[in-house]
Amino acid sequence: MALAACGGKKEEEASVIKIGSILPLTGDIATFGESSKNGLLILQDEVNEAGGINGKKIEFLFEDDENKPASSASVAQKLINNDKVVAIIGSIASKCSIAVGPIATQSKIPMITPTSTNPKVTTQGGEYVFRACFIDPFQGKILAKFSAEDLKAKKAAVLYDVANDYSKGLAEFFQKGFEEAGGEVVSVETYNTGDSDFNAQLTKINALKPEVLLLPDYYNTVGLIAKQARSTGIDAIFLGGDGWDSPDLFTVGGDAVDGGYFTNHYSPEDTSPEVVAFKEAYEARFESVPSAFSALSYDAGKILVAAIEKAGSTDGEKIKEALKATDITAVSGKVKYDADRNPIKGAVILKTEAGKQKFFKKINID
Ligand code: PHE
Repeated sequence: MALAACGGKKEEEASVIKIGSILPLTGDIATFGESSKNGLLILQDEVNEAGGINGKKIEFLFEDDENKPASSASVAQKLINNDKVVAIIGSIASKCSIAVGPIATQSKIPMITPTSTNPKVTTQGGEYVFRACFIDPFQGKILAKFSAEDLKAKKAAVLYDVANDYSKGLAEFFQKGFEEAGGEVVSVETYNTGDSDFNAQLTKINALKPEVLLLPDYYNTVGLIAKQARSTGIDAIFLGGDGWDSPDLFTVGGDAVDGGYFTNHYSPEDTSPEVVAFKEAYEARFESVPSAFSALSYDAGKILVAAIEKAGSTDGEKIKEALKATDITAVSGKVKYDADRNPIKGAVILKTEAGKQKFFKKINID
């Protein structure tokens, strides 16, 4: 696994393609880092067992960014300058990927984030930054349309974290979409990362009796808010995005989070051959159902491997050009890039029911 010391190093560098991977392996979303790592390990074995890329094996070098943007930036420098990786997969949260993007582009090292959905990741990151997931304007619009058309909601409220790019973006895109769909956003309230008492905001929201309440944050905060919301008397249907995707949503939120809906990148209940094959490989190795984080990380790796193969080179610029022309069917759907290096692809809506997330509906783009 590790590179042989001194004498053997040169030879080994020539035969192994090193890919950096920046993930939150410790910290508040460590479970996401872990499941992303698992997805990449499945891909690594699959590629190497099939003979590697043009005869060369691939190796992921994992670095922990603790879900902190400053750490993401410093491990990116290390991977690029010391380890000489040819590309980077990562990070997970948008705020971390936003910190890595400009470093990747400056160094001409292609980067693909599996899960960071904020538009700034690619627009600010520059031409070497790509992603495997859809973006928040799309996610926000789906939620808005779903609220207006399927749930027939006329009044919505939003409660979001002003200090988190992901939360803020999703709140804005939902609001815009819901108003465009003819609905009224009766209340927009905010808090700060780390807050744990939401009573003041929830009391204001309750007075306006919205039919849906968007909680665009990660599962632990959502669980907390949902509980407090129900005890304030709010009976609105809760809505969220991919940040809800963790079994811990129910551990924290209990039955307060039941009956909600959230957008996600993939459902393990999907019967497409790609999902079935990936699920089988994952379950055989890790004895659990792969989350969207695992699926998207596997997909990000697959997109990169296909591009290196097509480029016939590990030169950053050539890989970047090949990435732009990506056209593959991945676990989370078909991936092709638009001009901002964001995939044009579909989504799923999942429902929270009796402590579990259930497949509810697929949203195709064509
Ligand atoms: N889409 C989220 C983001 O961009 C991904 C994510 C979800 C990250 C949940 C962490 C936890 O931030």
